[in-house]
Amino acid sequence: MAAYEYETHEYDVVVVGAGGAGLRATLGMAEQGLRTACVTKVFPTRSHTVAAQGGIAASLGNMGPDSWQWHLYDTVKGSDWLGDTDAMEYLAREAPKAVYELEHYGVPFSRTEEGKIYQRPFGGHTTEFGDGPPVQRTCAAADRTGHAILHTLYGQSVKQKAEFYIEYFAIDLIMNDDGACTGVVCWKLDDGTIHVFNAKTVVLATGGYGRAFFSATSAHTCTGDGGGMVARAGLPLQDMEFVQFHPTGIYGAGCLITEGARGEGGYLTNSEGERFMERYAPTYKDLAPRDYVSRSMTLEIREGRGVGPKGDHIHLNLSHLPPEALQLRLPGISESARIFAGVDVTKEPIPVLPTVHYNMGGIPTNYWGEVLSPTKDDPNAVVPGLMAVGEAACASVHGANRLGSNSLIDLVVFGRAAAIRAGKVVNPESAVPDTNTAQVDKALDRFDTLRHADGAVPTADLREEMQRTMQEDAAVFRTDKSLAEGVKRMDAVAAKVADLKVADRSLIWNTDLMETLELTNLMPNALATIVGAEARKESRGAHASEDHPKRDDKNWRKHTIARVDDRKVSLSYRPVIEDTLTTVDEGGIDPEKIAPKERTF
Ligand code: FUM
Repeated sequence: MAAYEYETHEYDVVVVGAGGAGLRATLGMAEQGLRTACVTKVFPTRSHTVAAQGGIAASLGNMGPDSWQWHLYDTVKGSDWLGDTDAMEYLAREAPKAVYELEHYGVPFSRTEEGKIYQRPFGGHTTEFGDGPPVQRTCAAADRTGHAILHTLYGQSVKQKAEFYIEYFAIDLIMNDDGACTGVVCWKLDDGTIHVFNAKTVVLATGGYGRAFFSATSAHTCTGDGGGMVARAGLPLQDMEFVQFHPTGIYGAGCLITEGARGEGGYLTNSEGERFMERYAPTYKDLAPRDYVSRSMTLEIREGRGVGPKGDHIHLNLSHLPPEALQLRLPGISESARIFAGVDVTKEPIPVLPTVHYNMGGIPTNYWGEVLSPTKDDPNAVVPGLMAVGEAACASVHGANRLGSNSLIDLVVFGRAAAIRAGKVVNPESAVPDTNTAQVDKALDRFDTLRHADGAVPTADLREEMQRTMQEDAAVFRTDKSLAEGVKRMDAVAAKVADLKVADRSLIWNTDLMETLELTNLMPNALATIVGAEARKESRGAHASEDHPKRDDKNWRKHTIARVDDRKVSLSYRPVIEDTLTTVDEGGIDPEKIAPKERTF
């Protein structure tokens, strides 16, 4: 057994991750007087939320008529009828409140002439239950909205005396024999010490796993650490086959060019200079949802109408917009285009390509953020002491495809919901669970084995093999053949984890070891993605199968539940929640309005 000394900490709540969801949860917990720690592998304001550009969806109606019911309808349709209705209703209803709270906390939103929060159009957000024109629902702080939110939430959390453990890497969850979570084991990166956090509730806010793919807008830190820990604890992941490709990653570099660019009037063209989205989505054109636009771009390239010497990308045009508008509303992407594509947006189009951007799947939760571990008898069984929020979680509000700007609102609505729930279920007077030494030893054994891994495969090589396999075989368009091939290839890739080579044995700032731990987190996320995708014989949202081009509600309107044990993935399914939270008499939506139908734009 590995012999490591460790320091023990006791809290009511430990939040793992300090992005938008983690900080909103941390703030909400601390405001209620719960003793709250936030453990994060990067400095809070460097979390990936800082890169969120275009904005946060809420039906404030500042720029024209809007309603939470229209927002709900768009979210349901965007999800291709795979989202859970209760969670989607909660999101759409609570969104305005959550945004005004952000405003009062101090988020420096852009303003209209009258001083209201500025809102821009985003893909898939409409009026009149999809029968009216696009709505301006996305609240923005220029094109640096995530940055503004993250800094504000961090400042507020510090003010509320939440305690931050910065540059601590979470190794594994501590689970007791009754299946409850009682804490988390961490490694402090700058001095090599080990820390055990015992808590009444652990909240996973660890973000997505975009880095399972070769080209992603996600930061290199987006390694699915929560999903990895959950899988090792024997708990499931949900709907992992749904991976969002953002239409406008910069060609080559992969950096994000916000959908807000099209919201402000930008448009896509092919090699013939044609605004091709008019053919694919006659009503909403460039403002159709992302799965639609990404597929249309891919078809244009495949059919020989891509731009550039290799005909392998598309142009995003902004040069017709007034330079003052670009400066005011899109300063960040104007700079990114110059640095990463060498393009002056006032004069030239930006070369773009659909790029992995977001994971709709994640750790299954209810709309309070409580983690679920479905059983035969209870598809909504809660894991005591464990919550998950943000991209790490699957509530499920995005179903098979997320609408742009519904991510930031997901972070704050469900970070806040988790805090509200914790305020009810966590008793500040009760005792913090004792250290579960057997579980701590198990986590440290795994840590030590990886630290001393002396095989033949360097971590960076295996990571790249995984990323290329996922990029090729779990792409925008998928076939039975590519997915079957992908399952085989990923199984072979995962087998090589046993043959990893870690060159640095030290404990202080050992990036080799940290990247190895991250790789062991990415791996179960990637396996669940490809195996879930291979099993799903239909097309829905971001899962576009060329062999099964139609959505099949009769057989497949259900959530995929994947349990990953080492390399073995076992699948089961969980029903979609179709019930609304409120009735029409209570001011809710008429269920007929959100009943499944063909999804056209
Ligand atoms: O395009 C964007 O600004 C990204 C927003 C989002 O993913 O919600």
